[in-house]
Amino acid sequence: MTPVPIRYGARPCSLVVCRGCCCGDARKNPGTDHAGQLARLREAAAASGGRLAVRTSDCLGPCAQANIVVVQPSTEGRRRGGRAAWVAFTLDDEALDDILAWTAAGGPGIAPPPATLALQMIDPPKN
Ligand code: FES
Repeated sequence: MTPVPIRYGARPCSLVVCRGCCCGDARKNPGTDHAGQLARLREAAAASGGRLAVRTSDCLGPCAQANIVVVQPSTEGRRRGGRAAWVAFTLDDEALDDILAWTAAGGPGIAPPPATLALQMIDPPKN
């Protein structure tokens, strides 16, 4: 797949990693290396040449489906119709593999998500 060029002022595909009361909490999900997950995502962003950004957030709402990661489209992805994708139960390496593969391919609006990742997507909470 041909990489989408980055234009000046354009925002990259970004991950919002929930780290509120439940996401990232070892008492709620003791089998996951939560700090290691966040470190892996940040390392991927640092190595992406500006194509991926990662930030954390306080509770995003759907705590029962922790850990939540929201994949936000790049400026180009949004222009092409991509919308934020809410991924639930991001508790294992395979989920991160899928998220990183998708964002490397361009993310929402640019490339379809891996089929296994699509199964983990939830509707965003209503405000
Ligand atoms: S702490 Fe992540 S949804 Fe509440």
